Amino acid sequence: MLSCARGRVGAVAQVLTVLCLLVVVACCSAAATHATTSPSSSSSLSSSSSSSSVQGDWRNAAADAEQRLASSWRAATQHRSKLDSATQQQHEQQQQQQQEHNADQLSCSGTARIAETIPSNLTLHTDLSTGDAWLQLINNATQTLDLAVFYMTLLNGTDIGQKVFNALVAACDRNVAINVAISAPNAQFPDDDLVTLQQQCGSQISVAYLNMSTFFDGGVLHTKFIIADGQAFYIGSANMDWRSLSEVKELGIVVDKCNLLASDLKKVFDVFVLASNLERLPAFWPSQLDTDFNASNPATIAVNHESGSAFISSSPHAFCPAGRSFDRDALEFAILSAQTNVSIEVMDYLPITVYEEPQVYWPALDTAIRTVAFNKKVQVNMLIAYWDNSIEGMIPFLKSLNDLDNVEVRLMEIPKNTPYVPFTRVNHAKFIVTDSLVAISTSNYVGDYFINTAGSSLVTDAKSLVSSVQSRFDRDWASQYSVPLSSV
Ligand SMILES: *[C@@H]1O[C@H](CO)[C@@H](O)[C@H](O)[C@H]1NC(C)=O
Ligand SMILES: *[C@@H]1O[C@H](CO)[C@@H](O)[C@H](O)[C@H]1NC(C)=O
Ligand SMILES: *[C@@H]1O[C@H](CO)[C@@H](O)[C@H](O)[C@H]1NC(C)=O
Ligand SMILES: *[C@@H]1O[C@H](CO)[C@@H](O)[C@H](O)[C@H]1NC(C)=O
Ligand SMILES: *[C@@H]1O[C@H](CO)[C@@H](O)[C@H](O)[C@H]1NC(C)=O
Ligand SMILES: *[C@@H]1O[C@H](CO)[C@@H](O)[C@H](O)[C@H]1NC(C)=O
Repeated sequence: MLSCARGRVGAVAQVLTVLCLLVVVACCSAAATHATTSPSSSSSLSSSSSSSSVQGDWRNAAADAEQRLASSWRAATQHRSKLDSATQQQHEQQQQQQQEHNADQLSCSGTARIAETIPSNLTLHTDLSTGDAWLQLINNATQTLDLAVFYMTLLNGTDIGQKVFNALVAACDRNVAINVAISAPNAQFPDDDLVTLQQQCGSQISVAYLNMSTFFDGGVLHTKFIIADGQAFYIGSANMDWRSLSEVKELGIVVDKCNLLASDLKKVFDVFVLASNLERLPAFWPSQLDTDFNASNPATIAVNHESGSAFISSSPHAFCPAGRSFDRDALEFAILSAQTNVSIEVMDYLPITVYEEPQVYWPALDTAIRTVAFNKKVQVNMLIAYWDNSIEGMIPFLKSLNDLDNVEVRLMEIPKNTPYVPFTRVNHAKFIVTDSLVAISTSNYVGDYFINTAGSSLVTDAKSLVSSVQSRFDRDWASQYSVPLSSV
């Protein structure tokens, strides 16, 4: 289930899975209707009806998946948790020495910090802004910068956008090679500033335009990450847009010395570059794009002076070479492996597809939430953005979750400022944090993002990162911008 099948076959299989689940759901709701309309028939329902066995299979499958996912993660992390801190420090020192001796040695021993954009005039505080994190990454680069971006509008806004743009030009001027993978532009998501950057950088910049419509019905490259010199990186919700650096609430992670994960992220980047030159997706991606690290075999990292496990997932399914965890499965895994708490903060949450016709039910994450809340009494808190552009039809799905025991859904509304800039003043962060791990994503938790849109998550159990993100969630949850679902 965590396997990422390859190419078209994978995409078709996924559609079939969705259709199969639809059939199961239809049977289950038929059974439920049956049960409520004829209470006297409860004994026949529990003994022999075929709907109840479908229900049973479904429950068993969910329990199975949950156990399988949790035990593979536990097995993979067990050897590490045995390391005491002394051994750990020794290990880090060795890694560092090795890295100095051999530049190709893969290791991960740097500092990892959460970077956020907090819109102006809010009472929320952050230690590191997205803009400062990006400026550090870009200014530190001496050889390469790989940018995976949805679109680029840094100019003609707030100063910080101009500063990031200038830093990119300065990087070109000191011979840093800039590689950009960007979604094919359109009127709403233009590449004006990229064209300007190309004019200033000349041969120092190379751009791969990825048109997801070549392979799917719609979709965009929606991933957002920056890799510097193959060793430092940012991944998170912020677009290369001055608004995302000043007036849109964003959350991401920046790591300064971790070529182990940076090189893995580069493989995700290389898939975009390769795909941008293709007319059809390959049945098998070249083996150099395969990864060793996934949910069942995470990388061992040592950031912030503590060891942990991590892997990078990607979507859509067909963009995952061998070994790469599919983003949807990674998020499902994050939810299902929780023991006591799940906190989800995301802009849009809908268990359906919304952008292409016909819309279909997309139950993966919703089922995972209901499963842990019901089976394990895990407390699930969800904070979902609410603004002028919220997707119509979201609220009923949230209400049905909020009605469950152990699930509470709240909305986050960021007051407009004056003058109001369209598409700002919204919580655009996307993450899941549990009692044991955190997944920092680039996709909204809506079906389309996992079917035809390129996105990724960094999943880790490093304690400092889990607690740091949990404290951002708790801050937002308790803030004056968090309102009960019943208030709309
Ligand atoms: C995860 O990685 C391991 C080791 O690289 C590999 O054997 C396994 O097949 C991968 N799992 C998936 C689901 O791709
Ligand atoms: C930004 O401003 C400059 C100068 O004021 C102008 O020439 C340019 O067209 C503007 N770009 C965009 C994308 O609006
Ligand atoms: C992307 O591909 C679709 C389908 O082939 C095409 O209609 C569209 O014009 C392309 N967009 C761009 C910006 O090239
Ligand atoms: C940039 O370099 C400084 C100085 O070496 C270092 O402290 C910092 O962690 C680096 N930041 C990033 C994001 O690479
Ligand atoms: C987990 O949930 C319980 C019950 O809602 C709460 O008291 C506790 O603070 C939560 N822990 C975290 C880490 O959020
Ligand atoms: C918000 O902050 C900005 C910049 O600090 C300021 O100019 C503005 O007046 C503030 N108030 C409102 C309501 O936007």
